[in-house]
Amino acid sequence: MYLGIETSCDDTGIAVLDHRNIIFNERITQNHTQYGGVYPTHAVSSHIINLPLLLRKIDINILHAITHIAVTVGPGLKQSLLAGISFAYGLSLNYKYNIIPVHHIEGHILTIGLSDGIYPPYTALVVSGGHTLIVDVIEVGKYRIIGQTLDDALGECFDKVGRYIGLEYPAGPQLEQYALTGDPNRFTLPKPMYYSKCHNMSFAGLKTFVLNHKHEYIEHINDFAASFHKTIIDILIRKLRYIQHKLVICGGVSANKIIYDGLSKHFDTYVSPVNLCTDNGAMIAWAGYNSSHRNIDISVKPRWSIENIA
Ligand code: KG4
Ligand code: ZN
Repeated sequence: MYLGIETSCDDTGIAVLDHRNIIFNERITQNHTQYGGVYPTHAVSSHIINLPLLLRKIDINILHAITHIAVTVGPGLKQSLLAGISFAYGLSLNYKYNIIPVHHIEGHILTIGLSDGIYPPYTALVVSGGHTLIVDVIEVGKYRIIGQTLDDALGECFDKVGRYIGLEYPAGPQLEQYALTGDPNRFTLPKPMYYSKCHNMSFAGLKTFVLNHKHEYIEHINDFAASFHKTIIDILIRKLRYIQHKLVICGGVSANKIIYDGLSKHFDTYVSPVNLCTDNGAMIAWAGYNSSHRNIDISVKPRWSIENIA
C-alpha cells in the first residue's frame, strides 16, 4: 500500500492507495481569502497543523500495512513542499516506509490512469493555478512539452479576473457557476497569441483587459463569465489543434465542466472526477506507485521541469 502526501501549494492532502483502490483520500483546503491569493507563511503553518490531523483519520492497521510513502518534492512553494517532505521523513523513519519523491505535475498527468484506467500515450492539457502546459505523454516518465503559457497560468487568470470583479479566491468555481446562466456572445474579449503558429499561450493581456472594463462586467456578471469561458475554450481549441492522441485534461481547472464540454466537441477528451482534479494525495500516491523504480534524490525542487523527471 502507498501513502501519498501533497503540500505543494495551499491544499493539504493525504491518501492511501492499495494498487488502484483508493482506501483514503482527504484534503484540507486552506482559506487564503483575506490575502487575495496564496500567502506562503499561512500556507506552511497550515500544512504543519493539517498533516497530523489528516493522518490521525487513518486506521493504525492500515498505517502498518503501508510499504511506500510518496511525497510531492516539486514544483511548488518551497516552504510548503518542505512541510510535506519533513512530515514524510518522520513517518518513513517511524513506520519503515520507502520514500518516493514525486513531481506534482506528473501526479496530475497520470491521475486519469487511477480514475479511468487510461494510460499513455495521450496528450495532457495541464491547467492549474500555477501551470498551463500541453504535454505529449509518450509513456510514464517520458514527457515532452508541446506548448505552455508564457505568463499567467489559466487558474491564476481565473482567480485574478474573479478578484477584479469582486469574487473571492479561488474564483474558478464561482465563475463557472455564473457562466451557466450567461450569454457567451455578449462580450468580445481578446485572445492573445491566438493566431501565433506555436502552441504557446498567453493570458496576461486578457486579464488586463478585464481589469480595464471591470465596471461593465460587474453589472452583467453572468454574461461576462460565459463570454470569458467561451474565449478560454476558443483559445484552448486553437492551441490543441493537430494533437494526435486522446486528450486528457488535468489540474484544478479541469474540474470545470463547461471547459470539458467545449473541448470534448472537438477532441476525444477525458477528465477525472472533480475530487481528483484539484490537488490531492491520491494523485501523488498513484504517481509514486508508477515511479517507485526511479532513482531521484529526496530534496526540495521548487522549479522542476516535467521533461527532466527520470
Ligand atoms: O491543481 P490545483 O488544485 O492547484 C495547483 O496546483 O495550482 O489548481 C487550483 C486552481 C485554482 O486557480 C482554481 O481557481 C482552479 O484551479 N479551479 C477552477 C475550478 N476549480 C478549481 N477553475 C475553473 N473552474 C473550476 N471549476
Ligand atoms: Zn496542482
